Amino acid sequence: SMNVNDPALITLVNKLQDVFSTVGVTNPIDLPQIVVVGSQSSGKSSVLENIVGRDFLPRGTGIVTRRPLVLQLVNRPAPKDRTNGTKAEQDSAVKSATDANANADEWGEFLHLPGKKFHDFNQIRDEIVRDTDLKTGKNLGISPIPINLRIYSPNVLTLTLVDLPGLTKVPVGDQPKDIEKQIRDMVLKQISKSNSIILAVTPANQDLANSDGLKLAREVDPEGQRTIGVLTKVDLMDEGTDVVEILAGRVIPLRLGYVPVVNRGQRDIESRKQISAALEAEKAFFENHRAYRNKHAYCGTPYLARKLNMILMMHIKNTLPEIKQRISTSLAKYTAELQTLGDSMLGNNTNIILSVITEFCNEYRTVLEGNNQELSSVEL
Ligand code: GDP
Ligand code: NA
Ligand code: MG
Repeated sequence: SMNVNDPALITLVNKLQDVFSTVGVTNPIDLPQIVVVGSQSSGKSSVLENIVGRDFLPRGTGIVTRRPLVLQLVNRPAPKDRTNGTKAEQDSAVKSATDANANADEWGEFLHLPGKKFHDFNQIRDEIVRDTDLKTGKNLGISPIPINLRIYSPNVLTLTLVDLPGLTKVPVGDQPKDIEKQIRDMVLKQISKSNSIILAVTPANQDLANSDGLKLAREVDPEGQRTIGVLTKVDLMDEGTDVVEILAGRVIPLRLGYVPVVNRGQRDIESRKQISAALEAEKAFFENHRAYRNKHAYCGTPYLARKLNMILMMHIKNTLPEIKQRISTSLAKYTAELQTLGDSMLGNNTNIILSVITEFCNEYRTVLEGNNQELSSVEL
């Protein structure tokens, strides 16, 4: 799959969710959050957008992201039979969209605008810009107050992604004198969480040793257990230079390694180039480039997404023993409760109750053990 929302993974998590909810264990799997960190205009928002596979983030030259954006993707199965009213409502919402960047079963909701559904992802981007200006002033101010956006869709993993303002040193416009510290604190707060996967974004046309993103990632993850290096703007490197030495781990080694990517450039943004077209162009770039031709399978956004999927799979695998334990605890509790109901209550229903429990046990065994096998083949 092209993005982090791998259909196989979505199906697996949904299955687990279903099984667990039948015994009252909600949210059995708390997936890690994915956070981008790097200097201003390094391509953080572009990378996030590509791994989600949707166009909805403000991007551009200069400081565009001026507040943290906490983006919660929420898996919500498409309704099988919609009522006429709902369907008509949703169709009209989609028709009013300015282009094809909309879908009836997918929408966004902002915490600051409860109940308002955005089916048009272009309007989501406009609202992010509007609310950023409202809270920070138009003159390049920043604010640590996050924008909370939820995206509901049948095609996403329930997962959190965090887009952050870029690390910067010199205040411009109305920016406070201590902007460097303010942004640093904001970023540290997010990446310190031990369940964060850090995407340390560095433009390939700058010196890796000066990477602010890598430096900050090292402070909170010195062993590099949860940091992936992302090299953007590989297409903008000087003729004859490449990132091969970095990929080989001979510059600044990272356990999880580096992934080179090519995002949409400023002109692509202005001409509203679609993500699908951008991914095609990225693929062609790595396949045809002299330096990357023989390792193109380890380059580009799809490989970055696969790496992230592997990490999520490992996380699920590591979480399984704990949720198995939670299941047995609730089973024991239910069994005890059933016993206290006594013979009179159970009466003729005994067989029904027993068969429901047996069915449940079989189902969760299949899901857990089936996927345990699937997961045991996962390696990073
Ligand atoms: P952020 O400030 O780190 O969030 O960076 P953005 O995603 O807003 O990107 C900053 C600018 O760099 C935009 O004009 C993007 O079009 C451009 N950009 C980002 N990644 C790439 C890339 O891989 N190649 C090219 N040519 N431009 C890029
Ligand atoms: Na930017
Ligand atoms: Mg940004």
